[in-house]
Amino acid sequence: MDGNKATIVVGGHFGDEGKGKVISYLATKDEPDIVARAGVGPNAGHTIYKDGKEYGLRMVPCGFVNPGSKLLIGAGVLVDVECFLREVKTTGTQGRIFLDKRCAIIEARHKEQDSSNKYLKEKVGTTGSGCGPANAERANRTIKLAQEMPEVSKYIADVPLEVNTALKAGKNVLIEASQGFGLSLFYGTYPFVTSKDTSASMAATDIGVGPTKIKDVIVVFKAYTTRVGAGPMEHYIDESSIKDYPLWQEVLEEAKKKGLTGAVNEILSKHLGEKGTVTGRSRRVGDFDYGLAKYSSMVNGATQLCITCLDKIFPECKGVKDYGKLSQRAKDHIKRIEKEVGVNVTMISTGPNPEDMTDLRKK
Ligand code: GTP
Ligand code: IMP
Ligand code: MG
Repeated sequence: MDGNKATIVVGGHFGDEGKGKVISYLATKDEPDIVARAGVGPNAGHTIYKDGKEYGLRMVPCGFVNPGSKLLIGAGVLVDVECFLREVKTTGTQGRIFLDKRCAIIEARHKEQDSSNKYLKEKVGTTGSGCGPANAERANRTIKLAQEMPEVSKYIADVPLEVNTALKAGKNVLIEASQGFGLSLFYGTYPFVTSKDTSASMAATDIGVGPTKIKDVIVVFKAYTTRVGAGPMEHYIDESSIKDYPLWQEVLEEAKKKGLTGAVNEILSKHLGEKGTVTGRSRRVGDFDYGLAKYSSMVNGATQLCITCLDKIFPECKGVKDYGKLSQRAKDHIKRIEKEVGVNVTMISTGPNPEDMTDLRKK
């Protein structure tokens, strides 16, 4: 059959796995013709670095780092117009970025509801970006769509048509999802979840690509687990559980050398730089959640795994690009993840910059 199939990059734990970093690497290395953003909306913050500058992107696809990629935002993604226009400006992407005419629009009242509603703000601990109230209005069929907004008229496109035409012509399409499996409205830790499913199938739907047109699903995990906002978390590291984890005792010792003080989890979070991109809230830290990783890889239909932030718990691995140069303990950690999840790890991220990557994919 002629044509090509798309690759999806999706989060396997609770979001913030470093999908932005992985996309920035793939965009630079594989030079996709199209990078399409899926996911809920501007509640996601992908952090990436380009030419030494940090970007916290909530709307623009991280694939912007490759100047040759066309950037698309799928119909399933909620758009905050102000945030979108600001990011188009800071990334200098006007002329190659488009959003689907059917994207639903977040308005000021959605953000107000998200921040003032006690249940959402205090119990669920939302990002306050208006996504939940906007998706509720979408389900009520009263929300405005992008095609009704003059401010974005020059950015309007038919994303499914663009993507499927490109695939048919044999072009490369990379789909960047956001959030993570544990935050899925369907499969996550309800009610401590976001306002939509966050699995790979939903990412394909967000963009308008059918399941027969997907070749790879790369599920991304940090080398440990983090979670921001309320909700349960397995293998949470605290004063009593740390005794079961020699690795975390070592990380804590390193953290204390910096003079960090407070509760154990707070110290670890600060030491690892685990701060939410959108809200600035600190992320809780846990040991790698193998059970969730296995289950989410199953539902996502993972074909490959990518492990990020290896250097944060094994500093000797910082910037390593060659598997043979990773320390033995780091290799053992990767091997254990592969064994427990039952899917090959093909990429290992060893730093925040796009080039900090050990890439084991078949060439
Ligand atoms: P969501 O779509 O919000 O789920 O975000 P995300 O998956 O794109 O992750 P986010 O950028 O919010 O958080 C990941 C953090 O880890 C960022 O600060 C990245 O710069 C950083 N990061 C990613 N990979 C690595 C890595 O391998 N090493 C180090 N040191 N930092 C990394
Ligand atoms: P909402 O998506 O803003 O409604 O927030 C619901 C829950 O999902 C809260 O626990 C948020 O912290 C979490 N959440 C939403 N988006 C992200 C993300 O991109 N990364 C990490 N957590 C997220
Ligand atoms: Mg994030």
